[in-house]
Amino acid sequence: MSTSAHGLQDRPRVVLGVAGGIAAYKAALLLRDLTESGHDVTVVPTAASEHFVGRATWEALSGHPVATDVWSHVQDVPHVRLGRYADLVVVAPATADLLARAAHGLADDLLTNVLLTATCPVLLVPAMHTEMWLNAAVQANVALLRARGVTVLEPASGRLTGADSGPGRMPEPADIAAACRRLLGSGARSYDLAGRRVVVSAGGTREPLDPVRFLGNRSSGRQGVALAAAAAARGASVTLVAAHVEVPTPAGVDVVPVQTAAELAEAVTKLAAGADVVVMAAAVADFRPAARSQAKIKKTDDPAQDPVVVLERNPDVLAGLVRARTGASPVLVGFAAETGDESGTVLQHGRAKLARKGCDLLVLNEVGEAKGFATATNAVTILGRDGTEREVPEASKDVVADAVWDAVVPMLPPPAVLTTGAL
Ligand code: CTP
Repeated sequence: MSTSAHGLQDRPRVVLGVAGGIAAYKAALLLRDLTESGHDVTVVPTAASEHFVGRATWEALSGHPVATDVWSHVQDVPHVRLGRYADLVVVAPATADLLARAAHGLADDLLTNVLLTATCPVLLVPAMHTEMWLNAAVQANVALLRARGVTVLEPASGRLTGADSGPGRMPEPADIAAACRRLLGSGARSYDLAGRRVVVSAGGTREPLDPVRFLGNRSSGRQGVALAAAAAARGASVTLVAAHVEVPTPAGVDVVPVQTAAELAEAVTKLAAGADVVVMAAAVADFRPAARSQAKIKKTDDPAQDPVVVLERNPDVLAGLVRARTGASPVLVGFAAETGDESGTVLQHGRAKLARKGCDLLVLNEVGEAKGFATATNAVTILGRDGTEREVPEASKDVVADAVWDAVVPMLPPPAVLTTGAL
């Protein structure tokens, strides 16, 4: 936090870097959002960005003078001061050129100097044409930055500068501001998933009976989305396999939409091959209709003709991941929504399920009409294969998500040291 001239502890101090892309105009809205929500923002544009937005805009909206090079206000040593005292550095838009300069430690303007002196979380928000984003050089730079603990948001898909569209669009300012708040709020935990690849499944699968009907469940996907957002904020590269998720998916997370258990099984199994952690938060249907009618099923006048739905088993995705794993990676986390009954308590059912599934952690929650599903809070017990038990009393799904990652982090092998040559 910064301290004002009056010695008062006040607002979180944010450096907003703006690189030279058309999305620079959207950074003005981000600046507005951050200043209006109580952040002290200093804007550091690159010289190229001044072709898009002039410094008068930044100075007026931020209330601070603006420089692009290290030769202005030298008596203040701004290239060291800004980075050292920032609570967060966010660069939006981050162009392919800026990503390359950041990845390789260049220090040829004020913004790249700030990036080298910053000891706080750094958030880069790429925006560029699809071809540039998918280029191997850009992807290698992004991988290198992520491996070093920098949070690089996934670009959104949508309309680009002209009539073309695809991945490369800068996420909306409100989403970037939310990512900034998460990074500012997560304190010392910020980096503990840096360089890790994480797969989270979320939501509930739907098994079609006919073109309009399905067998489904009440999962909203909120807990899985919170897990994906928390992992991204802690530096992981996250893929969310989303089965009918009812809440917006977080910026900075790669989303793979799926419908059925079979589609989810295929996506998760493929992604697990390169992952450090797989969290199965999705409610996966155990059974599907054995036959799917191509036409809408109709009732006839004769009740004796009423259809009988025959079910067949879906694959158990989590058990399949356990079987396919060689060694300790990926760490596998299951979820279990249980009710107590005459055959055992919720905890006893959870322990039995953990043993049956063979995963490393099982996040157990008691469900009922108003518990667990489609609510903003959750109360869970995180069971470990080694017999550990961590209770998380009724808390927001974000708090539960961080508790799950707190349990996962010590189970991860030490991170590999990544160099440019290794990419
Ligand atoms: N799961 C899975 N594949 C399935 C069913 C469940 O991977 N076909 C995963 C869920 O994502 C969850 C865990 O297994 O992480 C436990 O899900 P749950 O439905 O509680 O387990 P089941 O084995 O289906 O047990 P039950 O008979 O109690 O429903």
